[in-house]
Amino acid sequence: MSGNVTVPGDKSISHRSLIFGTLARGRTTVRNLLEGDDVLATANAMKALGAKIEKAGDVWTVDGVGNGALLEPKEPLDFGNAGTGSRLTMGLLAPYDFPVTFVGDASLSSRPMGRVLDPLRQTGCQVKAQEGDRLPVTLHGAPLAVPITYRVPVASAQIKSAVLLAGLNIAGTTTVIEPVFTRDHTERMLAGFGADITVETAADGVRTISITGQTDLRPQDITVPGDPSSAAFAIVAGLIVPGSELTVKDVLLNETRTGLLTTLQEMGANITIKNRRETGGEEIGDIHVANSSLTGVTVPAERAPSMIDEYPILAVAAAFADGETRMEGLEELRVKECDRLAAVARGLEENGVDCTEGEDWLTVRGTGNMAAGGGTVETHLDHRIAMAFLVMGLASQKPVTVDDGAMIATSFREFPDLMASLGGTIEAVA
Ligand code: S3P
Repeated sequence: MSGNVTVPGDKSISHRSLIFGTLARGRTTVRNLLEGDDVLATANAMKALGAKIEKAGDVWTVDGVGNGALLEPKEPLDFGNAGTGSRLTMGLLAPYDFPVTFVGDASLSSRPMGRVLDPLRQTGCQVKAQEGDRLPVTLHGAPLAVPITYRVPVASAQIKSAVLLAGLNIAGTTTVIEPVFTRDHTERMLAGFGADITVETAADGVRTISITGQTDLRPQDITVPGDPSSAAFAIVAGLIVPGSELTVKDVLLNETRTGLLTTLQEMGANITIKNRRETGGEEIGDIHVANSSLTGVTVPAERAPSMIDEYPILAVAAAFADGETRMEGLEELRVKECDRLAAVARGLEENGVDCTEGEDWLTVRGTGNMAAGGGTVETHLDHRIAMAFLVMGLASQKPVTVDDGAMIATSFREFPDLMASLGGTIEAVA
């Protein structure tokens, strides 16, 4: 596979651009917004809360209503497959004194929402949810929500962000204590929008993020960098398909997102980052990769937050490496769009790859040769499982089939065309 490509805008930054733009009074512009179904669900929710959101040419405009001025939606907010959109919006609406119901697809309705509902209850928000704090969820904020100090119990940027978003519209100072550093787009972007937010990092790495609520936000002009979690599929394809050499341009290089690059380089991948530069407070660059002989490594648990969405595609790379790759600290993979740890292990087995699945770890034993392939992988409504195994099929001895490609549109609609432009063949079968 060869060529130069760009991938769509970062999903995390795209959701936040729409949400923060809705809270700023005036017009925010967003270039390179990810137009995946997840982000479009967030756009629809923000419209239902009073924002005017439109696309003119390749620029999205968000005419925000102002912090504290969201309208009561007339219908339940439907977030489809989108965990980030739904959880951040729950935080956003927790201090509002009106009822709002959240619904989603079968995958989202099976995911745990208690992780954000617990701190939101502490602000005084009333919550009605299904068994196990699952969707549909109805929130009704307290007339006088109280600021909280919350220590995030699992490494999750979604939980951190939900509490900070609630704090934006609560009088006084809301504090989040984050023992493990997770993606920091909320903190960076809220500072850019003029929120009263401070971040302190202690000597032991624990971060304390404080936000003082009920201040005005200023509209921004945003260009969303390429999503490293989407670039990952092209990068691994370039590494494992014989003879490949390709570049993925303008990719976000925020250190909370680059764990996969570090791991692949430790495995011996021929990866060089060119043209590093800064835009809108984030570092971006062009990632050049060439087909490489990979060796198995141990991926430490501490690295998990910086590559949490990349384990399915790392497991595919590991299947082509020589020796054992051991991935540790994977408990959060069990509550993603599906149980990704199990889905990856079954997919590898189905394609003749030797692996062992533990409670929170996975080992993959590659032979240094092409994986067998030939299997059909169950994707469980999970876009990243689908894309990871389609990449495997580009390099395996026999093609790999996935049972459903529809969910790819949640984050990377262009994936089959982009792979085709690089010379890889992905075909729909009846
Ligand atoms: C995201 C945080 C991560 C990640 C998700 C996007 C975000 O989830 O898996 O795709 O934008 O904050 P967790 O916070 O649950 O780890």
